[in-house]
Amino acid sequence: MNYHHSMKTIIYNIGTLAGILPEGVRKLEGAQMNGVECIEDAYLVIEDGVIVDFGAASDVGSGFKNNPSHAIGAGPSPCGQGGSTVFKAATHTSDDAACNIQYIDAKGGFVMPAFCDSHTHIVYAGCRDGEFRDKIAGLSYEEIAARGGGILNSADLLHETSEDELYRQAMERVHEIMSMGTGAVEIKSGYGLTVEDELKMLRVIRRIKETAPVTVRANFLGAHAVGRAYRGRQSEYVDLVCNEMLPAVAAEGLADFVDVFCDEGFFTVEETDRILAKAAEYGITPKIHANELEVSGGVQVGVKHGALSVDHLEKTTDAEIEALRGSVTMPTMLPGCSFFLGIPFGNAKGYIEAGLPVALASDYNPGSSPSGNMRFVMALGCIRMRLTPEQSFNACTINSAYAMGVSDILGSITVGKKANLIITKPVPSLAFIPYSHQTPVIEKVLLGGQVL
Ligand code: NIG
Ligand code: FE
Repeated sequence: MNYHHSMKTIIYNIGTLAGILPEGVRKLEGAQMNGVECIEDAYLVIEDGVIVDFGAASDVGSGFKNNPSHAIGAGPSPCGQGGSTVFKAATHTSDDAACNIQYIDAKGGFVMPAFCDSHTHIVYAGCRDGEFRDKIAGLSYEEIAARGGGILNSADLLHETSEDELYRQAMERVHEIMSMGTGAVEIKSGYGLTVEDELKMLRVIRRIKETAPVTVRANFLGAHAVGRAYRGRQSEYVDLVCNEMLPAVAAEGLADFVDVFCDEGFFTVEETDRILAKAAEYGITPKIHANELEVSGGVQVGVKHGALSVDHLEKTTDAEIEALRGSVTMPTMLPGCSFFLGIPFGNAKGYIEAGLPVALASDYNPGSSPSGNMRFVMALGCIRMRLTPEQSFNACTINSAYAMGVSDILGSITVGKKANLIITKPVPSLAFIPYSHQTPVIEKVLLGGQVL
């Protein structure tokens, strides 16, 4: 006999199931971002890591919410007994799956989609706590970079670090963000800045993808800064990115995306255009760093090349909003970077009022945002960008899922999506989560239906 042992998980006693979207919704824009659909007193069923059913507990059988043993049998109970029959009837599943059921009591908390962090640099060596002192003393990000610190400092450290050690350090951060509720993460290269070291970083990202339960997407950011050996020869470095790095990255299939730091003092619009044109030959979709330090033209060149997202946008004008209108490109803002560097926060509210979507991400990196706490990002979205809790929630889930190309499988409570979920302690409202932003409300994180 060839049995298929499917693994089934039932979450019951859900106070509020939040972030429900119909199948097929890939992003929310403008006024669509104002609401978060919820069911009170809910249950959710996971099979083989995928959401297969959810609904109001009252639809399953009386007594289900407060004492599931009456309705479906708590814990490891024999198949087909008592309320599990009721539950099976309500969830339309076959008998053979019912024998392997795990029950999770949400104890009246929220169940919501795990955060999607569509912009990070979490593969790096060591840290830059020395520059932290310079920063406190008053040096700007640009001044630190101009002194040979910043990204080049991280590149030197990374060069000295073995692939195994880099993986070990990065996995510590991966565990850190998973425990804080991140269910999908985009990770960039860009601290290599030589062919070999960029490949080393991307191989580490691939290894994380293969070994961590979080969903990972890899982004090749060779054009993060000009490598030390090319100082004063920026155009030749761009040639290296186009003619050596990109072909090698593509040959090994190491990148889902390509990125360029298109900003004052880094790469120009023309150089960005050149790199994106080359990436298009390999079929690699761009995501762009733009308008962090100055209005750079990076948004427009990104949109021109069909970028999936343009990120930072601390500085924007109406021209950027017009360029983004009707495009496939997700404007993504990184409030943790604004917070840490003390630079302006992006005008997320203005974008939404203009009918555009907005995503938020952490930018977790050693120089401008040494935190991958997406709940803090959601809180900054509210506190510093004046997004409503619902807008900020949507920006950190479905829209950030879109910004890393995973909104077909993640970012909402939808049948068929991966069960990457957060279960909170009982909290009074969705607003409480960003409002009481240091209170540890996350009770459990599930990735692929498995409790972390
Ligand atoms: O997104 N802005 C460019 N890159 C990163 C910072 C990288 C670093 O300083 O190490 C960012 O902020
Ligand atoms: Fe970044």
